[in-house]
Amino acid sequence: MNIAIIGSGYVGLITGLCLSKQNNIVRCIDLNTQIVENINNGIPHFFEEGLNELLADELEAKRFKALSSLENIDIEIELIIIAVGTPSDNSGDIDLSYIEEASKNIGKFIKKNKHHISIVIKSTVLPTTTDLFVRQILEDESSKKLGDFGLGMNPEFLREGSAIKDFLYPDRVVIGWEDKKTKERLEKLYSPWDCEKIIVNSRTAELIKYTNNCFLALQISASNEFANLAYKIGNIDIEDVMSGLNLDKRWNPKKNGKRLNPGILNYLKSGCGFGGSCFPKDVKAIRNYGIKKGLKMEMARSIININNRQPAELVKIMEEIDNLEKLSILILGLSFKENTDDIRESPAIQIIKQLRNKVKKIFAHDPMAIENFTLVIPPQKKLEYVKNWENFVTRSDVILVLNGWKNFKKLENFDLRKKYLIDPRRVFNKSINVKKYLTIGLNNKS
Ligand code: UDX
Repeated sequence: MNIAIIGSGYVGLITGLCLSKQNNIVRCIDLNTQIVENINNGIPHFFEEGLNELLADELEAKRFKALSSLENIDIEIELIIIAVGTPSDNSGDIDLSYIEEASKNIGKFIKKNKHHISIVIKSTVLPTTTDLFVRQILEDESSKKLGDFGLGMNPEFLREGSAIKDFLYPDRVVIGWEDKKTKERLEKLYSPWDCEKIIVNSRTAELIKYTNNCFLALQISASNEFANLAYKIGNIDIEDVMSGLNLDKRWNPKKNGKRLNPGILNYLKSGCGFGGSCFPKDVKAIRNYGIKKGLKMEMARSIININNRQPAELVKIMEEIDNLEKLSILILGLSFKENTDDIRESPAIQIIKQLRNKVKKIFAHDPMAIENFTLVIPPQKKLEYVKNWENFVTRSDVILVLNGWKNFKKLENFDLRKKYLIDPRRVFNKSINVKKYLTIGLNNKS
C-alpha cells in the first residue's frame, strides 16, 4: 500500500519505518526540513533501540523517504496516517492544534485528488476527535463528504525503548473505522500481523487507548501508595507484599499446575513515579475531559496526585540520612526510564530540583539523556553532568539510581561499604554490601 504519514516524530517515524519494512511504500512528512534531511541521510533525531539499522535498511530498499510537505508527494497514496503530537496545555487539556493543522492540510490535499484516500488518526486523541472534529475539518476543507474520503482511528501502543518490537509484534491491533473502505484498507494493511484485531468505531478505539494507559498508570499509583504506607509502618518490604498479591489466581492463574506470570506482574514496581510522553499527559487529558462532561473523575485525579508527590517521597527518605548537606551524590539515570533519551516528565527533574540545595554536590549521569536534560536543568555550581560515572563513585557518598540502564549494574564491582545506595527502581538486590540501602516501600527499622 502507498502511505503518507504526517509527523515524523517518535510515533510517526517508527510507524512509517515498520510499515515500510512490511513492503509498503511510505512517505513520512515533517515540516522541519532539518529533520527531513537528516532522516533521508540515515540520521534519526532521537534514540531508539534498533532505529538506526531499520532506517538504513528501509532507505536502501527505497521503500521509505521523508518529505517536507504533502504537496511534494511522489506516489499515489491510498492512506494518510496522522501521527502528530497531542501535548497537554498548562491545565492538562489536550492541545489539538497539530491535529487541526494536519487535518486542514489533508483536507486541501484530498480536494485536489480524485481517488479515494483514507485518513487515519494514530495520535492519541480523546473520544469523538476523529468522527466529529477531524471529520468536520476534512469536509470543510475538501468540500467532500465522508465516503468520498475515508476516516478511521488506529491507536499505537509503543513503549519507548522497545517501540520497534512493539509495532512489529503487537499484543493487538485496534482498528477504528467510519467507512467500509477504510476498515478494509486497515484490515489489509495489518493482515501480515498475526495477533488479535479489535474492529470497532473510532470513538471506541480512542477510548481503548486512554483506558489502557490509565489502567496501567492507576496500578503504578496504587502500588506507590501502598509502598509509601509500608515505609511508614516499617519492617515491611513492599516487594513481599506484592508477591503475596501476585499469587491471587485472578492476577496470576495456573495452567497445568504452573503459574502463567502475566507481564503486568513484572511491569509493576513501586518507585519514584511514572513519567514519559504518554501516561502523565493522557491521564490529565481524560481527567479534564470527564470533568467537562460533568463527572468527578476521582480516580484520574488520584493517579496524578499520587504520582506528583512520589519524587518528594523519595527525597523525604533521603533526608533521613544524617548530614545530607555535607554529602556528594551521584545520580545514575535521568531519562524517564532506561533505553531512551526522552526526559519528558522524568521523575529525575523533580528529584534534582528538590535535592540540589539540600546536598553538597550532585554528579548526574545518563548514557543517552544528558543533552536533553541540560536543556531543562542546566549545569550549575552544585550540579555537574558527568560522562564517565565510574570515575565519580569513589568521590560520592550517596548513589541514587533513577532508571535501570544495564550498564549501572557495574556498580556492583565497586567497594560500596561506605556508600548509601538509594534504589527506588529496585535495580539492585537489597542485600548488596553498602553502608545503607534505602528505597521506596522498604524501611528496615531496628
Ligand atoms: C507507555 C505505554 O506502556 C504504551 O503502551 C503507550 O502507548 C505509551 O505509554 P512508555 O511511556 O514508553 O509507554 O513507558 P512504560 O514502560 O509504560 O513506562 C511509563 C513510566 O512508568 C516510566 O516512567 C516507568 O519507569 C514508570 N513505571 C512503570 C513505574 O514507575 N512503575 C511501574 O511499575 C511501571
